[in-house]
Amino acid sequence: MPGGSAAGSAQWWRDAVIYQIYPRSFADSDGDGVGDLPGITARLDHLAELGVDAVWLSPFYPSPQADAGYDVADYRDVDPLFGTLADADALLGAARARDLRVIVDLVPNHTSAAHPWFGAALAAGPDGEARRRYIFRDGRGSDGSEPPNDWQSVFGGPAWTRVSEPDGRPGQWYLHLFDAGQPDLNWDHPEVRVEFLDVLRFWLDRGVDGFRVDVAHGLVKQADLADWHEPQEILSGQDIDRPRPPMWDQDGVHEIYRDWRRLLDSYPGERVLVAEAWVEPAERLAAYIRPDEMHQAFNFEYLLAAWTAPAQYAVITRSLEATEAVDAPTTWVLSNHDVVRHASRLGLPVGTPRPNGIGVGDPQPDAALGLRRARAATLLMLSLPGSAYLYQGEELGLPEHTTLPDESRQDPTWHRSGHAERGRDGCRVPIPWEADAPSYGFGPTDASWLPQPTAWAEYALDRQRGVAGSTYEMYRTALRLRRELGLGAGTVYWLESPDDLLRFRNGTVEVLTNFGTAPVPLPDGAELLHASAPLDGDGRVPADVTVWLRVG
Ligand code: NOJ
Repeated sequence: MPGGSAAGSAQWWRDAVIYQIYPRSFADSDGDGVGDLPGITARLDHLAELGVDAVWLSPFYPSPQADAGYDVADYRDVDPLFGTLADADALLGAARARDLRVIVDLVPNHTSAAHPWFGAALAAGPDGEARRRYIFRDGRGSDGSEPPNDWQSVFGGPAWTRVSEPDGRPGQWYLHLFDAGQPDLNWDHPEVRVEFLDVLRFWLDRGVDGFRVDVAHGLVKQADLADWHEPQEILSGQDIDRPRPPMWDQDGVHEIYRDWRRLLDSYPGERVLVAEAWVEPAERLAAYIRPDEMHQAFNFEYLLAAWTAPAQYAVITRSLEATEAVDAPTTWVLSNHDVVRHASRLGLPVGTPRPNGIGVGDPQPDAALGLRRARAATLLMLSLPGSAYLYQGEELGLPEHTTLPDESRQDPTWHRSGHAERGRDGCRVPIPWEADAPSYGFGPTDASWLPQPTAWAEYALDRQRGVAGSTYEMYRTALRLRRELGLGAGTVYWLESPDDLLRFRNGTVEVLTNFGTAPVPLPDGAELLHASAPLDGDGRVPADVTVWLRVG
């Protein structure tokens, strides 16, 4: 289905609400327990009813699934697990028919070890040209048995794996910042650059509205691959003046995105690039969204901010200032497939360091408090100007699966960290649609690639749809009002407030979040437009509640 994007010329992305679909856990059409593209197409009416502007699809390309599809073996096809290219075209057409734009995931930092390029690199031997598309080096030590440097993989363990050469002898090492099944590409190689421009064209020609760019801050490494003695983390919060980690946020990445932007701009409509760049501080992140680079970058500093009025005030202000300086929209995000769902994260004591998964035996979140705060956080987020990202299931108030049996875990983090980190499976469990159906309506059978908790019936869409006060209806109303009131295109004006309140105006709306413990009265003459939970019997805003008020 060649053709134009659904996007007109308006800069739709500046205030868009974009819904992340994690294909393997959204909807399963064939009952094998893994979600698929036809499953998504069949459920698009849900997203149209919810009122989002666009969807972002996590990878569905052919892959050994060593990292749930973020290990791509062929960038121009669909894995049979998820369907066919014709199914992708059908999805794009069905989305367009509902005025939903579609962004796909691009994984340029690494391929799968099953990619033909990597096979050729192994076969080529140490001096072979084909090795240069990746980052192969001789090992250290007299017999080369030590890795070339001390870098650690984000998932745990060394970031280097030694290969056997074609003659069977132990040979060179290759770099993988993630799993050993995800060899890092060498972006200094011209063929790598040409190839990805062509991959972009392939999907643009099929009509996608843009790309979410995986590990956008990792493509270029410091040339000397210098040792880095700090613990490895995908987000290394940095003082702007301190040395950059040699594997992240190197200045050379920006030239790549300028090339890509030129290509996207040559297509009709507004096609967009979204950076997944775990970069701090906000000024460094803003460099990715200068006018001739990407359009948006995920605001992970916001996702990580503590649930206190000062922390939220600080991160919102910093984010708005940093993006304004480059004339880009700010983005807001609370959950995705890599972090503990915010309905559970916010149920942990304030100040708890970001957990990498929660399991049996770990301190369990306070589910009721978590949901209450999650709803307040969402209503605060959706009142802010810019673009917001939602993660499938959060519109149902879905918590993390915090008691997933360890033997069912599939995230490579769990194994690579020697079971020290539980990893991300808990936020990836297939979502519930119908309370009384097998697999809660995820698919036609009981099969589910990760077990669903027994208590999930209450979160199912059919238990919430049309039910006043449900999380689903709260999201739907918020998205409708956000659009009607133009909040995404507005401006934040802070209002005086005590330490544990956040109060600002955006257009004709006043937003108030109560982070304290005592209820607070509504401002005089305010008309209640929306609330994350009911007011108390005296008409006051209780603790951990956000309200939207009309102020004329
Ligand atoms: C970020 C993705 O969101 C994550 O799921 C993946 O494991 C890494 N990049 C590696 O591709």
